[in-house]
Amino acid sequence: MKFLVSNWKMNGDVEFAENFFEKVNRIDTKNRVIVCPPFPLLHKFKDFSHSLGAQNCSERTSGAFTGEISPLLLKDLGCEYVIIGHSERRRMFNESDETIYKKYKTLTDLNLTPIVCIGETEEERSEWRDVLSIQLNKFKDDGNLSRAIIAYEPIWSIGTGKTPTAAEIHEVLNFIKRTTHSKCPTLYGGSVNIKNISDILRIPSIDGVLIGGASLKIEEFSEMVRCSVC
Ligand code: 13P
Repeated sequence: MKFLVSNWKMNGDVEFAENFFEKVNRIDTKNRVIVCPPFPLLHKFKDFSHSLGAQNCSERTSGAFTGEISPLLLKDLGCEYVIIGHSERRRMFNESDETIYKKYKTLTDLNLTPIVCIGETEEERSEWRDVLSIQLNKFKDDGNLSRAIIAYEPIWSIGTGKTPTAAEIHEVLNFIKRTTHSKCPTLYGGSVNIKNISDILRIPSIDGVLIGGASLKIEEFSEMVRCSVC
């Protein structure tokens, strides 16, 4: 079994969600498929045969926080997973490691699984160990870590068509596993598509992938869901 996480980002509409549901629902697969549409489309996935996730949440569960989304409400809508710390949120919405850790705490306390994203920029590539160590610092010895998933998404590979080599991914995922005492699954994300997914899923240290753009092509994603390399 491998995790296949579809992150729609800020894409899709009601019609797309209905089509996606119809085509992907009940595909027979050994993989754990987690679909993460934008918040207003989550309700379209009621009775979905695969798993549902959100792309972000508040670190708090209720209160006067206009525009924030409670993880409790996400749970109510059927979400089991929440992506947190995606590089787009870190960079464009100034999310800090501290904030991401608070979200992780809230989620694990609620028995929701955080998918914690980490990764280095192109400029930081030669120092990836230092960058990832800082991003993992608060998590690595946390008692709830076995309830989380860590996703390595090098920022330079997101939406660019560039991926690290299989050996590079293996080295980084092993580093993450060592740092986190192998307590949780480790995923790779960044330009995964129908052409490279089999090779990527054959990497020994990988537990699954996060797929952005390619998961918006419903036929292509359906084929990836059926992928049996895994
Ligand atoms: P792409 O697959 O479009 O590169 O996006 C990866 C990603 O950011 C998934 O969270």
